[in-house]
Amino acid sequence: MPCCHPASVNLDVANIYYSLTKMLRPLLIVEIGCFIGFSTQHFAQAIKELGFGRIISIDAFDWDVDAGRGMQNRFDVAEYYKNKANVGAIVEFIKGYSTEVYPAIADQIKQKIDLLYIDGDHSINGVFADFNTYYNDVRVGGFVILHDIYPEMCGVDGPRALVDCLKAKHVPHNIELIEMQTKDGFGIALLRKINDKPLQVTPIVKLVEKSWWRLINALPLRMSRTSFERQIIIQVVDALTQQPIIGVKMICPQRFNEERISDSNGLINLSHYLPNRYLMDFYAEGYQDARNQLFDISSEKFSGIVRLKSLS
Ligand SMILES: C[S@@+](CC[C@H](N)C(=O)[O-])C[C@H]1O[C@@H](n2cnc3c(N)ncnc32)[C@H](O)[C@@H]1O
Repeated sequence: MPCCHPASVNLDVANIYYSLTKMLRPLLIVEIGCFIGFSTQHFAQAIKELGFGRIISIDAFDWDVDAGRGMQNRFDVAEYYKNKANVGAIVEFIKGYSTEVYPAIADQIKQKIDLLYIDGDHSINGVFADFNTYYNDVRVGGFVILHDIYPEMCGVDGPRALVDCLKAKHVPHNIELIEMQTKDGFGIALLRKINDKPLQVTPIVKLVEKSWWRLINALPLRMSRTSFERQIIIQVVDALTQQPIIGVKMICPQRFNEERISDSNGLINLSHYLPNRYLMDFYAEGYQDARNQLFDISSEKFSGIVRLKSLS
C-alpha cells in the first residue's frame, strides 16, 4: 500500500508496531487516527499471524486524499487495503471523532484494551481528551503508544505535553514510560499501565503557556519550549581566535544523519536529543572537517564546544 509519511508513520515505526504486537499478543487494540490505514495494517498483519485478537480503528475520515488511486475518501482507501490484505475480520473501522464515538463502542472496550495507540488529533486538548477518554479502559498491564512526542521534529506539541504531564504526575507510581527516538525524529513513547487507578489528566502546560512563551521570546536564544526544559547546546568556535563560527553544518549519523546549522552565536541546539553518547561530524567553509567528535549527553543540561581549525 502507499506509504504517505509524514501523515502515516514511517516504515521503521510501522515495523516496530508489527513487532510489538507480535510480542505483546494483544486481544484488543484500539487505534485513534487511522488515516489510510498504514499503521493499522502493521498491527493487523501481526494479529493475523498470531491467529487471535482484533483492532478497532477510529478516524474522522473527514477529508479525501490521493493515495495513488485518485482522490478518494480515506475510509474507502483504508477499506480497500484492509480487504486486499485479507484482514477484514480483524479490523473494524469506526467513523467519527474519537471522543464522540466513545459511547458507541464503550461496551466493547470497557477495561479490555491491551494496546491503545493514540495518533489522532495532535493538539494539546486533542491528545489529553483521547487519553482521558480511553486510558481508563486499558487493562492493568496493558500498553499505550503515543506518536509524535518531539515537537521540534514533528511540529505538534500535544503528545509532548501529555508525556511531560504523565512524567510529572504519574510516573512511576501509575505508569511506566519510556521515550524512543525514531528514524524520522518524531519519536514514540511507550507506556505501561501498572495499576487500576482511574486517571484524568489536565494540560498543565497550557495554564502557564502565555507567560512561558513571553519569557522564551524575550531570551536572546529564542529557544523552544522543549529546549527550555532541556538545555543541550554545542558551540562551534575558531580554534585559534575562539570566535563563534556561523553556519557550521553538524551531522549526527546516530540520528539518521540529522543536520543542524550553527546560529549567529555559533550555537547548535540539541535539546530534543535523548541521553546517549553521540558521534558528530562538523563541516564549515574555510575550516578542516571535524569528524567523529564524541559528546556524552547524559544529563538534561549539557553544553559542549567544538574547535575548528582554519584552512588558511
Ligand atoms: C497522523 S494521522 C494517523 C496516521 C496513522 N496512524 C498511520 O500511521 O498511518 C492522524 C489521523 O487522525 C485523524 N483525526 C484527527 N483528529 C481526530 C479525532 N478527534 N477523532 C478521530 N480522528 C481524528 C485524522 O483524520 C488523521 O487521519
